[in-house]
Parts: sequence; C-alpha cells; structure tokens
Amino acid sequence: MQTWRLDDSTQTIVVAAVDSAMAFVAYWGALLPGHENLNQLVAAQVRDVTGGMMDKHALVSLCPVEGDAFPGQPALLASDAKGVALMPNFVLQDVHCQHQFLKLSYTDVDIGLTYSASINIAIEGVWQLSADLKCVDKIQVHWLAAPVLPAADKCERILEFGGKWCGEFKRHERSFGPSALVRENRTGRTGHEHFPGLIMAAQGASYCQGDVYAWHYAWSGGHKMVAEQLPDGRRQVQFGHVPHSYRGLARNFSSATQYIAFSAGGINGVSVPLQKYVREQLLPTKLMQKPRPVHYNCWEAIYFDHQVELLKDLAQRAASLGAERFVLDDGWFGQRDDDTSSLGDWDLDVRKYPQGLAPLIEHVWSLGMGFGLWFEPEMVNEDSQLYRTHPDWVLGSAKQSRGRQQLVLNIALTEVQAYLYKKVSLLLTNNAIEYIKWDHNRVLPFADAAQTEAIYTLLGRLRVAFPKVEIESCSSGGGRIDYGILKHAQRVWLSDSNDALERLRIQHQAATFLPAIVTGSHVGPRHCHTTGRVHSMAFRAWVAAQRHMGMEMDPRELTTAEISQLVTIVKWWKQQRSWLLQADILRLDSHDEAILAEQHLATTGDQFVVFAGVADSSSQISPRPLSLTGLDAEAQYQINLVNRDELVGLSRGEMAIKIDKLTLSGSYLMNYGVTLPWQFPDAMWVLQGKRL
Ligand code: GLA
Repeated sequence: MQTWRLDDSTQTIVVAAVDSAMAFVAYWGALLPGHENLNQLVAAQVRDVTGGMMDKHALVSLCPVEGDAFPGQPALLASDAKGVALMPNFVLQDVHCQHQFLKLSYTDVDIGLTYSASINIAIEGVWQLSADLKCVDKIQVHWLAAPVLPAADKCERILEFGGKWCGEFKRHERSFGPSALVRENRTGRTGHEHFPGLIMAAQGASYCQGDVYAWHYAWSGGHKMVAEQLPDGRRQVQFGHVPHSYRGLARNFSSATQYIAFSAGGINGVSVPLQKYVREQLLPTKLMQKPRPVHYNCWEAIYFDHQVELLKDLAQRAASLGAERFVLDDGWFGQRDDDTSSLGDWDLDVRKYPQGLAPLIEHVWSLGMGFGLWFEPEMVNEDSQLYRTHPDWVLGSAKQSRGRQQLVLNIALTEVQAYLYKKVSLLLTNNAIEYIKWDHNRVLPFADAAQTEAIYTLLGRLRVAFPKVEIESCSSGGGRIDYGILKHAQRVWLSDSNDALERLRIQHQAATFLPAIVTGSHVGPRHCHTTGRVHSMAFRAWVAAQRHMGMEMDPRELTTAEISQLVTIVKWWKQQRSWLLQADILRLDSHDEAILAEQHLATTGDQFVVFAGVADSSSQISPRPLSLTGLDAEAQYQINLVNRDELVGLSRGEMAIKIDKLTLSGSYLMNYGVTLPWQFPDAMWVLQGKRL
C-alpha cells in the first residue's frame, strides 16, 4: 500500500494505491489530524462483500477503465486505429510528490499507453487536477475525464447551474439515485444552459453552514459531467470535454483543469476561495490594481444606428453620469446595419465613420473616458466580403443551420488565425482602444476541442501583444464564462438581461464561482428591453453596483431625478470600489424567501456592505431580521443604512436604523441579525458596516 497526503488549511486529500495499481482518492474532506495513520484509514474503509457481486469491490480510481468489471462509467474510452476498444492495464511508473503537489504516471507497455494524473494546490482552499494521455501509436479517444473523485456519502444533494439566454445560472437541485446523472453540453461553447460546475451539499447545508464540495471544469468548448452512484452505493464524479473523438487519431490527449474545493462552512466556504482564485491567480495583477472603470455601453441605446454626433452626445452624457469607459458595440464595421451581414469584415464602415474612429475616440478620451470596441471574430455572415472570398473557412458543412444568420469560422486553420490576429491587432495598433468586448453569438455546428484551443491561442497572442488591452468575454450574454476563458479575459458579460430583478438572481448564483471584479453589471433602460418590465433607477443602479458597474441605457431618457439618483450611486460605488471589488461575496441565509442578500466582506474583515435585494413580497407582514456572517463575534460594528432616502410611506415603524447609525457586536449581528425596514418589492437595501 502506498499513500500520499495533500493538505491545505481546511481540507485533506489522501491518495492511495495498492502496490502498483491505479491510485484512488481514499479521502477528500475536512482536515485530518497530522498523525492520522493513512494505512489504517484505507484499511478501515474497505466495504463488505455479499452475494450477487464480484469478490472484491472495483476501486473508484483516478481513472476507472473497462476490462476489470468496474460497475460504473469508465473515465477513459479509447480504441486503436482499427477501432478495437482498448482496455488498458495500467501499472505505476513514476511518482512526483512534493508539498501540495502529486503527479502519478502509469503505463500499459503492451498498448504503449501512458496516463498521468496531477493534483496540486491552486490557492489555499482550491485544488486543481488534470489528466494526460500519451500513446506510442495513434489512437482514438472517445472520453477522457479529469482525475476522478469520489463523492462523499453524506452529500446527497447535487446543485447545478443552468439556464438560458437572459436567464443564466439558474440553480437546480437533484439528489443521487440509482443511476448516473450525465450532463453533456455539445454546443461547443461553455453555454448558458449548463455551467461546467457542480456543488454537492449535505442535507441542511446552506450558504453559511454544512459540508459542501465544489467542482469546476475550466473549458470553454462544452463539457460532460458524470455524477454516478454505483450499485454498491459509492459515488464518483467525472468531468471532461466533449468529445475527443472528432480529433480522429492522435497520440496526445489532455483534460482541461478541474478545480475542486471542500468546506465545512457551507457554500460560502467553497465560493470564497474560488472567487479569490479568480481575483488573485487568473487576473493579471497589474491590470487589476487599477480601479475598475465604470462602463458605458451604447448597445441598448442605439443598436446598429451609429452616428458620430449622436455617439459623441451619448459619451458626453455618460461621462457626466460618472462613466469612465465608453464601449462602442456592434455596428461599426463592414456594412452592418442589422445582424444579417458583415461579420468577418473587420474594417471600419466609412459610411458611418467617414473620418475613421479617431474623432469619436478623441472625444471620448477628452471626456476623461477610455474607449472600448466590440468584436465577434469567430463568426462570419454569408453576406460579407470574407465569406465571398473564403467560403472554405467555415466550420462544418455548408448545409448546416444558421444561428443569428451567421456561421462559425474554423479558427484552428492557420490562415484564419492569421487573418483574425491581423485584423484585430491593426485596429488596436491604429486606435487608442483599451478594451475589447469579445462576443460569440451562436453555438458551434458541433463541439470541437480544436476550436477551443484555437481561441485560447488567439486571445493569448493578442494579450501578449497588447497587454494593456482588457478583454470581456461575452457570448449572447453569459454563454462563455469559465476559468479557461478567464485566463484570457478580465470581465464577463454575465447576461443580456439588464432586468434588475433577473440580474439580481443571476449574479447572486454566479457568485458561487465568480468574484465581483470580473462580473459586468449594467444599469439598463427604464423599460427593460428583454422583459418589458419597468424598474426604479435606484433598484437598477444598486443591482449594477453589486458587481463591476456600468450603464447601458440611452441617457437621453433619464429624468432629472433619475440622473441625480444614478450619479449618487455611481459616486458611492467609486468611493468603495478599491476594497469592494476585492471583497468576498458571502451569500446570506435569509429567513425570508423574498430577500436575496449578500454580504460583501473586505478581505481585512474591517468593513462590509450588505445588499439585501427585495425580490418579491414577503410572506409575513413585517421583515424578519437578516443574520450576517463571517464577522468577529467579539468585535463591535457600526452599521448604517446607506439608502435610507428610499424609505417608503408604507414603512411607518419607529426604527432606530431609519434615523442613525447603530453599534452592535458581531455576535448579535450573526446570531440575531439586522432588522431592516419594510420595502416595496424590486428594491434593494444597502447597509454598510465598519469594525470599530
Ligand atoms: C450579443 C451581446 C450583446 C450585444 C450584441 C451585439 O447579443 O450579448 O450585449 O453586444 O451581441 O450584436
């Protein structure tokens, strides 16, 4: 028996192997004492054998394969050049084990196959795992999962995040049953429908308490997940991408990085280190040290109707509202007057911009704002010069269905990469552009790993050549959000829904994996363009202020009162952003279903903001107290209702919080909670706290 132990300050992973057989994760969960006898631990967990089963339980190894009666889904499915299934018999070849790093390599000499699994720490609280496969001869791989982990028996609940355009990150809950739960996203992009993540939670676990396990598969090309309960009750979780087989025969295959986290402190316990990993490891430090600018995006104000003088006017108005970056959205290139043409023709539309972009860009910079530009480089319209010249650059068959009247370019082709790199870099070289909104508005005709690798390469090259240019990942809103794309992008457009109520919910759930600093959120038009609903300026602005704030409405529609409210909230956001965007988003266990509440806690613990979104009418007539979390029980905190000017006439009680700041202990705030005033639905209470 060999064992390897990996610890951080909250969790332990024990990997074990019997002789030279494929290793398995014998334990993953709360920190074990340093003196734990790992041989005893492995011996103690052997399960009994009875009638109607094999003489020994097949291991849920890092890579269960076919050929040894494994009762579940294998983690590797491959065939040789003739199509004959490979059933490898892996033998341990090599071990690299250092502090918080383990790499195990296995070979099957008869087949000429080498499999390696790596586990290493990503950041305190988060581990990253990946699998590699190499073969002497070319083989076909149909499925390769990242190293497989067992799922704890006490975590019965499976939480998934899926949704739709304008409805991303909807949480679904299921529980383990007698068969496998297979989630397979074959759209070729991360997808609105199936976020590549998973939470497993114990009964009763919530945001603030209980055992929780998290997975995230960092791949932007569609993924497959298997969460399976074996007939003997054990459970395994596999993540991989879809599908390797389209690559045909090859010698090297890899999984993407699979991130995992465990916490005994509820969903917040896994979300906090995951958010921190994005902030501190994925984002480029220098770029992120600059204050995040307030965006103004013109899309919902003008759509394709680009007129330089009108845009200058919008820029002027946006700047006076507090915007610091002006983003020119779709419609500036080719002859793009609607969404039927010109994708691929990344040259300025001289009908709309007879003197180039310079007059607009100079105007924007003269207002103290930076300039951003929209692109959708991976796509092409048939009505474009590019398509007319290179119809062969399209991914998939000519007969395939169109999506938003567009086709996808095969960007894995060298000439397509070269063309797109040249076009984008030319615009970046010739214009003072500090930001790109990089869009991707349709699914692929089929999932294609080469396309995903190619976008990483293209973005990587652009980031090296233009390190000061920031990139936002957009895909009809939140269709391409994952830690793979976040290695190259510094912001995500979470959703095309600027409906504050929907946005409140979407961003609340997305915080499971995403920190505020990367999550774009805009103040939309008074009449929401995707729901037709009307929300107050205060609600729209506070919801945007929960994340990386921006605006997207036509500022000409604003009343004087709306302007003044928006200016005040933008000003507040700018005063807080240096710590607020670095803060941990802790979701609160609200005792009132109508309240969606978050506590953004400074990493120093010295201050916090509670955003209590009133998402519905409460079932009870008076608001219940809202328990805070993560505070120092002994410390005194001064709390202040920031927006008490939003009190409504129906709130008649004499409450101290309506009038002044209050000083209370962390213990009281966490154990009893803050009692907030009554409020109309579709509003937000904002409460600031400071440790005294
Ligand atoms: C997508 C994006 C929008 C906007 C349009 C432009 O739908 O999500 O924000 O940029 O494309 O066509």
